[in-house]
Amino acid sequence: SVYSISALILAYLFGSIPTAVWIGQAFYGIDIREYGSGNAGATNTFRVLGKKAGIPVMLIDILKGWTATNLAYFIPISLVGHHNSIAFTNYELALGITAVMGHLFPIFAGFRGGKGIATLFGMVLAVHLQAALLCVFVFILVLLITRYVSLGSILAGFMYPIAVIFIFPVYIKSVVIYGMCMCILILVTHQKNIERLLKGKESKVNLFKKKTA
Ligand code: G3P
Repeated sequence: SVYSISALILAYLFGSIPTAVWIGQAFYGIDIREYGSGNAGATNTFRVLGKKAGIPVMLIDILKGWTATNLAYFIPISLVGHHNSIAFTNYELALGITAVMGHLFPIFAGFRGGKGIATLFGMVLAVHLQAALLCVFVFILVLLITRYVSLGSILAGFMYPIAVIFIFPVYIKSVVIYGMCMCILILVTHQKNIERLLKGKESKVNLFKKKTA
């Protein structure tokens, strides 16, 4: 319907807000994509500009996914019935994934964006709180043990469909398929990270030290 199309466009526009690029340009006069891993995301902002810039980027990128997903409550589509129905969950996930696409290919930053982890997390947070908490647990655990953000992102992503199977058996079919697509997407966006991880050349995050550009 017209509603669902406008909701998806809105979700894409939310996702398209290039937080890392804009914060880098506005407060530090740099294009974050020319430094560090070259990624326009929270991790690279943290890496290049420190936590003062990295934390806001992370929070806003999470908020983008969360807000886009919650558009489902404000822009109803006729096919979708109750708020707890599988159809509604599918609609929420479609909005969230569309926001992630915006983050990956932002219309406001020459279609060169980030890897979508924070935005994906915002989506999972909006749809399945318990699963989101499990993903965060895995992410933090992997990060503390290995200090690789990318590995934490990948394994936390895999946690999502697994968590859904255990927590929400009713949703198994459609949501697990979404979850698996999400895993594939994460593997695709993290291709370079995976290559570096395999070669032992991935950069480790310095959790407690300040960094400057
Ligand atoms: O969220 C992206 C993260 O998993 C990897 O970022 O900058 O290390 O490629 P980066």
